[in-house]
Amino acid sequence: MIFRKRWSVEKGKTPTEMDKKILAAQKSGHIVPTRKLIKTPEQVEGIRASGVINTGILDMVEKEIREGMSTLELDDKIAQFTADHGAVSACLNYEGYPRYSCISINDVVCHGIPNATTILKPGDIVNVDVSTIYNGYFSDASRMYIIGGETTPEKQRLVDVTLECLKIGIETAKPYSFVGDIGYAIQCHAQKNGYSVVRELCGHGVGLEFHEEPEVAHYGRPKTGMMLVPGMVFTIEPMINMGRKEVHFSREDGWTVTTLDHLPSAQWEHTLHMTENGCEILTH
Ligand code: MF3
Ligand code: CO
Repeated sequence: MIFRKRWSVEKGKTPTEMDKKILAAQKSGHIVPTRKLIKTPEQVEGIRASGVINTGILDMVEKEIREGMSTLELDDKIAQFTADHGAVSACLNYEGYPRYSCISINDVVCHGIPNATTILKPGDIVNVDVSTIYNGYFSDASRMYIIGGETTPEKQRLVDVTLECLKIGIETAKPYSFVGDIGYAIQCHAQKNGYSVVRELCGHGVGLEFHEEPEVAHYGRPKTGMMLVPGMVFTIEPMINMGRKEVHFSREDGWTVTTLDHLPSAQWEHTLHMTENGCEILTH
């Protein structure tokens, strides 16, 4: 049997302070990143530039989204904005995905496919999720939008608490903490508010590819999962359900995820860069 260490220091090189912390964690049985998950400053700049365009898309959506519009119309605007900025959608053609964004309304948890017959209605809570490739670098973020600016107090609270879950996740993600710390903090906040956390879909490493290690679950136990090290870039993107946590994957289109109980679900997402002082948000 072979055991391939995920982290090692080249023979003859003096371990840095960071090397020492990672090697100690690895020795005590923690999962640590591989070197390729630690982005160089140049790579972080590339992802940052991608994030600026991705944020531009979500800002544009804020201005354009309105009742009576089809999700396809909104997706067309996203496609145009992306092209105008010399970027490419990471969603398009990803494992056969047919459009430029995911637009998920009310009980749709994620991966809603824009189409001509889904029309935005007043009071809908809508997640728009966009991922951008610019100069080879990937960024990924999503926001909730409320059609007409007003919804029921119940749906408004779900949207607000889900944003709090994202913020608490970001606050919890400190250098040399663990992915499980994030999940635990998010799960506590969601459940304290009477909500549940979707298990089947996770955040992820991002930057050089769309989905990299680690998986960032939005539930879990402290001090489990991969150690978070300065230079890592990853998303946190909690999907929080008003009712039960179970979801249904559409067999018809192969993508759309809905809540099993058809109660609403919300999601917010950022791309984050771990620094020596905590997370830097690359998508706002
Ligand atoms: N943007 C999603 C994420 O946050 C992934 C969507 S995959 C797609 O990871 F193909 F549906 F776009
Ligand atoms: Co993502």
